[in-house]
Amino acid sequence: MILVTGGAGYIGSHCALRLMESGEDVMVFDSMELGTRHALDVLAREFPDRFKGFVQGDLKDRGSIASVFRGRDIEAVVHFAAYSQVAESMRDPRRYYENNVGGTMNLLGAMADAGVGMIVFSSTAATYGEPEYTPIDEVHPQHPINPYGATKLMAERMMSDYGRYGIRSARLRYFNVAGADPEGRLGECHDPETHLIPNVLKTAGTGREFSMFGTDYDTRDGTCVRDYIDVNDLAEAHLLALRYLREGGASDCFNLGTNGGSTVREVFGVCQKVVGEPIPVRECPRREGDPAVLVADNRKAKSVLGWSPRSTLEDSVSRAWAWERSRR
Ligand SMILES: NC(=O)c1ccc[n+]([C@@H]2O[C@H](COP(=O)([O-])OP(=O)(O)OC[C@H]3O[C@@H](n4cnc5c(N)ncnc54)[C@H](O)[C@@H]3O)[C@@H](O)[C@H]2O)c1
Repeated sequence: MILVTGGAGYIGSHCALRLMESGEDVMVFDSMELGTRHALDVLAREFPDRFKGFVQGDLKDRGSIASVFRGRDIEAVVHFAAYSQVAESMRDPRRYYENNVGGTMNLLGAMADAGVGMIVFSSTAATYGEPEYTPIDEVHPQHPINPYGATKLMAERMMSDYGRYGIRSARLRYFNVAGADPEGRLGECHDPETHLIPNVLKTAGTGREFSMFGTDYDTRDGTCVRDYIDVNDLAEAHLLALRYLREGGASDCFNLGTNGGSTVREVFGVCQKVVGEPIPVRECPRREGDPAVLVADNRKAKSVLGWSPRSTLEDSVSRAWAWERSRR
């Protein structure tokens, strides 16, 4: 059985669904601080035999996560549970260190005690900080510029060091995750929502203006370039990373992105096309700490894991729009 921490959240629920689709048994551990009951209901409804249940617990509570491993046949962990808002991490770093570092430490300790030897981890492009070159490959220096990125880098380092206890890890560095389940069962539910695509789509049809930050960067149209990776492609990468570890693969890190990028204006244009009507926009000054270009070199994930992202940006936006409409 695979233990999915944070499986009631956005990416974790899509991955849990994909794991079960491929024949895996899954159990979810989530505090429900940011997760949804809806996601758990979908997992239980779609795969009643493979969904082995949900444990409500907090990784910050060592006893709570340790007890999950007792008496259960857990082969590997896919670890999503964390806080992930950059701005919040700048305002309240302690919250991030306690959860993302402390929580991961408790999880790895419980795994070591229980003899569970494989973990697939949600890391992030934020561990690289300001790019020194682009596309960013995995050997690019890691100098995070905010506490969120720093906590994820510490978790990565801890994971490598816990190799000493027989734990092998695939540390997956996501770029900008987007989209929703193609069948409309799951989607993104963050509050507050800080991601571009759901924010543009939430504005559509409301008469409100969308605030576009930073239009004077040295890019092809003045707005920031980001690498949008579809959540379904991301889920596939987790499955492949798990297989890689199962087949004896050594601990390693992999970028998950498309090797290409879209500007904020281009994303906005795709959103308008998908929605089918103009969305009012207001151009605003740059936000602090936004690098001009963040694009992944994804060749390592392709060659080592055999992964290949398939969805286009329009696919991701169309599915996110279907999800957004279903919730109005
Ligand atoms: N969304 C992105 O674009 C993106 C990009 C890079 C990395 N990531 C990483 O991917 C992971 C998932 O992101 P998401 O967008 O699905 O976030 P999310 O907030 O939707 O999901 C996180 C889940 O973890 C749970 N959780 C948090 N702390 C917990 C704890 N201490 N104990 C138990 N459960 C806890 C929350 O309740 C929630 O259900 C995070 O680790 C995030 O840092 C996300």
